[in-house]
Amino acid sequence: MPRIIIDTDPGVDDAIAILMALAAPSVEVAGLTVVGGNVPHARGLRNALALLDFVGRSDVPVLRGSNRPLKGRFASAQHFHGTSGITRRLPEPTTRPLPQSSVDFLAAQLARFPGEITLVAIGPLTNLARLERQYPGSLAKAASLAIMGGSVDSPGNITPHAEFNFYCDPLAAHEVMNAGVPLTLVDLAACRQVFLSRDEALRLRSRRPMGKLALEIVQNWFRADRGRESMLFYDQIALAAALCPKVLTTRQVQLAVQIDGDEAGASQTAAAGGPIALAKEVDVEQLMALMGDWLGWERE
Ligand code: BDR
Ligand code: CA
Repeated sequence: MPRIIIDTDPGVDDAIAILMALAAPSVEVAGLTVVGGNVPHARGLRNALALLDFVGRSDVPVLRGSNRPLKGRFASAQHFHGTSGITRRLPEPTTRPLPQSSVDFLAAQLARFPGEITLVAIGPLTNLARLERQYPGSLAKAASLAIMGGSVDSPGNITPHAEFNFYCDPLAAHEVMNAGVPLTLVDLAACRQVFLSRDEALRLRSRRPMGKLALEIVQNWFRADRGRESMLFYDQIALAAALCPKVLTTRQVQLAVQIDGDEAGASQTAAAGGPIALAKEVDVEQLMALMGDWLGWERE
């Protein structure tokens, strides 16, 4: 049974990815490590705890992570995710994060279960970069590592050059991309292949608790702005690729990440044949089928 740890800045698409992991058959979610990004770190932490509580999974540990990038401050994406970050009011969580830090938790889990942990990073890469700085060689102990981030050789979404997660902490992105660790990178070019239209989203229903909550988050996101015609999928693709690698094809590359200046967070292919499996084609039909299956999404 895959043991998965999700490093996240919840976030609408983060929340859906977390619910997918909880709903996927035979997957043990071993922890959520939180990082600032989409929303301030304290809010992200609250969202992670509230989400788990709401679906009856407060047994999953939640860990405090970085509230600042390696340098400077995080950007915010509340214009996209809403002030709360998850578009759905949830009761105050009854649980607290574990006292350990994300970095110590990740290092301990990876050391205890070498080759067994599927690590999925769907926020700025600060926690992972700090992990490698404090406990070198930790990332190499993961069974696999899937990351949502970057807009390789293509336009960004937060600046003309950079994708949000890489932009939030370009130095961390640079360090993780150059750690020499095999990883799958789902960048914006891959994410731009998958979207859910407003009409389709508003017609979906689910009878399962996780699927229902995921749908409410999606549908409220559309209702928050009448101009929103479609929702791109980001973190959901990285999560699906981690659990079911056949949902996309990849090519091996080495990447260069701009760490400062006007193009901070931009990423380019530096050479072919590196340790990074960069997503190429997403099998949209298979991805949607997986999501529908795990979350019990059905057309009305
Ligand atoms: C990424 O940025 C965040 O806003 C999303 O949660 C996703 O991880 C997309 O650029
Ligand atoms: Ca995210």
